[in-house]
Amino acid sequence: MTGLLTGKTVLVTGAGSGIGRSAAEVLAGHGADLVLADINGDTCHETAESVTAKGGNAVPVVADVSREDDADAMVEAAIRAYGRLDGAFNNAGVDGAFESVAESTVENWDRVTDVNLKGVWLCLRAEIRRMLASGGGSIVNTSSTGGLVGMGLGLSAYVAAKHGVVGLTKAAALEYATQGIRVNAVCPGTVRTGMYHQVVATGVVTEEQIAAMQPINRPGDPAEIAEAVAWLLSDHASFVTGQAWAIDGGLVAQ
Ligand SMILES: NC(=O)c1ccc[n+]([C@@H]2O[C@H](COP(=O)([O-])OP(=O)(O)OC[C@H]3O[C@@H](n4cnc5c(N)ncnc54)[C@H](O)[C@@H]3O)[C@@H](O)[C@H]2O)c1
Repeated sequence: MTGLLTGKTVLVTGAGSGIGRSAAEVLAGHGADLVLADINGDTCHETAESVTAKGGNAVPVVADVSREDDADAMVEAAIRAYGRLDGAFNNAGVDGAFESVAESTVENWDRVTDVNLKGVWLCLRAEIRRMLASGGGSIVNTSSTGGLVGMGLGLSAYVAAKHGVVGLTKAAALEYATQGIRVNAVCPGTVRTGMYHQVVATGVVTEEQIAAMQPINRPGDPAEIAEAVAWLLSDHASFVTGQAWAIDGGLVAQ
């Protein structure tokens, strides 16, 4: 344990899989006490059990981030369990269908923007309300390299939502900059998670093509995102707010 986050209570959404699960393990390794939220109760409980088996503290909460009551309940769970909320990683997301703009459907647009943008806003709002009452905190939202560039893969709803997360992050960072609340985003490149395997299974892109999209010539590991999140949540990042940090093997540097 490094102690980077010792004494801090952190909420992680999308904690049942991929980047969220890795973040739970990494943040607990840095000493954070966790509330872990996911729409999938089984996988959320598995992550919590894995953290507690290694000596960490983790409370699982089954929640849909796109529902106002659930977003509020996750924050309340942190207060009930630990009496405070110091940090949050708003990470839950879905990829949605691959479809051109002309062929895209209202169903896909609503599902993707509900989870990936409205969900982040609902969580952020509940967290900021609590942090204002307790004197501050640090929030990290998961955007994507698709929040910085257009990608051109037929994921327009995803790209729009992830650009929205960057805008929301900057707006909130400026609103609360003098009130002790920092808000940043991480913009992962392609990372080997459940979402990655779903995309490969569609046949739209191969694993080799995905690797080649990133100058470092491989997909990322979830822990490579989680370590950056841990630093942003910590007091070591005390002068960093309003940033959208590409963690992408050099993809958007091209
Ligand atoms: N994997 C990548 O290459 C990649 C790249 C850039 C950004 N991202 C982003 O990273 C985040 C995590 O993705 P991942 O790759 O770990 O995917 P994943 O599918 O492995 O994990 C996503 C988790 O979010 C949960 N979830 C989905 N909808 C939810 C909802 N409404 N409420 C609560 N939980 C919900 C799922 O159950 C799952 O446990 C997402 O926001 C995704 O857009 C992923």
